[in-house]
Amino acid sequence: MCQENSRLLTLGVNIDHIATIRQARRTVEPDPVAAAVLAELAGADGITAHLREDRRHIQDRDLRLLRQTVRTHLNMECAATNEMVAIALDVKPDYVTLVPEKRQEVTTEGGLDVAGQIQRLSEVVDKLQTAGIPVSLFIDTDQKQIEAAVKTKAQFIELHTGRYVEAKDEASRDKELAALSQGCEQAIAAGLRVNAGHGLTYWNVYPVACLVGMEELNIGHTIISRASLVGIERAVREMKQAMRGQL
Ligand code: PXP
Repeated sequence: MCQENSRLLTLGVNIDHIATIRQARRTVEPDPVAAAVLAELAGADGITAHLREDRRHIQDRDLRLLRQTVRTHLNMECAATNEMVAIALDVKPDYVTLVPEKRQEVTTEGGLDVAGQIQRLSEVVDKLQTAGIPVSLFIDTDQKQIEAAVKTKAQFIELHTGRYVEAKDEASRDKELAALSQGCEQAIAAGLRVNAGHGLTYWNVYPVACLVGMEELNIGHTIISRASLVGIERAVREMKQAMRGQL
């Protein structure tokens, strides 16, 4: 039923956790730049890297080399700080996804509170988009946040799929999927373009891949986990299959 949409849907492979393994020993391997090359050869439509304030995985050097080597598109994920905006303006990724960031968190925990900082985020969006870098805001599926995202004039939102992936039973999973679907529809009607991600796996990705109008899924942990056992090319190919409901 959703074959048409899933054919148009793209996969952004988040390679942060290749860098996590390297940083565990503060050495030079494995190199996320090499992982990105292999991921692209296997069919990744984009590469995502999150430059965190504490540099726990991706380093500035990685981002700069990725800018030179990525042949698809490079999505720089970062907090909306002056430091990150300056780096983005210099590196010029193909788009920037703004995320909230707390030092203690294991991974990005919730969506950005866009409604609570429209002025500040509008300024950041304007700076980046004036420089030709489209901005995506990572938000929870919440009508108020979607309306606020429209006000910032960001071109994209990325819907946080966390509540869907953490749903404990089928009824709550269906409810969260319906919320994602409505959020996607509301955002597109308001002129936004829509991506999604966080916590998606080979087993739960297909229903999200079927959401009408969804453009890109950003997926990291499950792909890199599988890559550690079967290699990144096979892991990426299999995720593309899972997105088409063929795994
Ligand atoms: N999208 C955003 C905004 C994220 O912060 C992350 C995690 O870095 C992802 C997608 C990918 O999440 P996961 O690693 O759980 O697939």
